Amino acid sequence: MNNSKAPAEEARPAADGELLLEVDGLGKHFPVTSGLLRRQIAAVKAVDGVSFSVRKGETLGLVGESGCGKSTTGRMIMRLLDPSFGKITFDGRDITRMSQGRLRPLRRDLQMIFQDPYSSLNPRKTVGSIVGAPFRLQKIETEQGVKKAVQDLLELVGLNPEHYNRYPHEFSGGQRQRIGIARTLALKPKLIIADEPVSALDVSVQAQVVNLLEDLQDELDLTYVVIAHDLSVVRHISDRVAVMYLGKIVELADRTDLYERPMHPYTNALLSAVPIPDPAQRGERKRIRLQGDVPSPLDPPPACRFHTRCWKAQDICKQVEPPLVELSPGHQAACHFPENTTVSATDAVAKAAVAPGAASGDNGAASATDSAQ
Ligand SMILES: Nc1ncnc2c1ncn2[C@@H]1O[C@H](COP(=O)(O)OP(=O)(O)OP(=O)(O)O)[C@@H](O)[C@H]1O
Ligand code: SF4
Ligand SMILES: [Mg+2]
Repeated sequence: MNNSKAPAEEARPAADGELLLEVDGLGKHFPVTSGLLRRQIAAVKAVDGVSFSVRKGETLGLVGESGCGKSTTGRMIMRLLDPSFGKITFDGRDITRMSQGRLRPLRRDLQMIFQDPYSSLNPRKTVGSIVGAPFRLQKIETEQGVKKAVQDLLELVGLNPEHYNRYPHEFSGGQRQRIGIARTLALKPKLIIADEPVSALDVSVQAQVVNLLEDLQDELDLTYVVIAHDLSVVRHISDRVAVMYLGKIVELADRTDLYERPMHPYTNALLSAVPIPDPAQRGERKRIRLQGDVPSPLDPPPACRFHTRCWKAQDICKQVEPPLVELSPGHQAACHFPENTTVSATDAVAKAAVAPGAASGDNGAASATDSAQ
């Protein structure tokens, strides 16, 4: 297996352009109930209207602080959770309310890698049985039998095929994550949602697993949504990155654009906390320390949800919600006073209203691309 990687900034081959996943205004409000009758008294607004799309062969990174709704978004796409509102289109089909029976054949194409490689593997089952389970569940016979298929998969993820009869506890954390990845790959899925795939691993092993995911993507033409709170993991693996804050996407852009020209103050703050490997460049970036805690999703702040922690906040930020709009080509941000651009979300919306035929961004976002140049 080739583990030598190109520098993070080198552009990866462009995805072929065909949309595989479209998420439109997706939301999940968990009811909070009280009393014997379990009357609903409030709702946790875990995800509150997110829209993005993923093209075949592309990797979209989804980042944000703990509790911002990343896993809930991933679990809704997998249909492990029913969305409260919005729409999910996978491979051209609306799966938002599809019954579990009708979803079953699609489950082959839609797989998830979990954060904790140990708890996601049954300790009483051998590796052969764990990795072979998807074949049996889907009643799929392979040409040379399930055992051969599983051994090929173990080899593909860099494990010894002879270890077919071993149990999960006989492997290291990194090897267990490889077992999880092998299981995920068993049915050659079209889309893999990797929820914090390396955060439970030692730093030394994290790079190996990230490189493995990249190698497999090239080899098997996979499409990923990679969820992480660590911006450095997402930077390495993603083509585009969406930044979430309190259940909303606040910025979405091409990886290089996002890291070099972040527009949303929250993205700036997150980026300022990422260690810079090159000592010569370390002095150039000032660490922004966010004040206070993330507010509760039970009662998120009105208008711009980030205003309680934003050093640029003005009255309008507390009164008018800035929409997520395209402020430069392919670069969306939701802010009244964005950085690295001369237009704001409000300008972009006003411009789109004056010229309704103007080009729109991802998922129909209003565009200020012309005025941004
Ligand atoms: N089943 C549930 N019932 C009620 N609230 C929930 C439920 N699942 C998640 N939440 C809440 O929804 C919000 C988003 O949770 P989620 O797990 O999606 O966050 P996350 O971004 O994945 O965080 P982390 O980085 O810690 O994994 C949190 O406030 C969480 O407490
Ligand atoms: S809209 Fe205002 S409060 Fe929100 S991120 Fe932008 S400047 Fe900060
Ligand atoms: Mg999570």
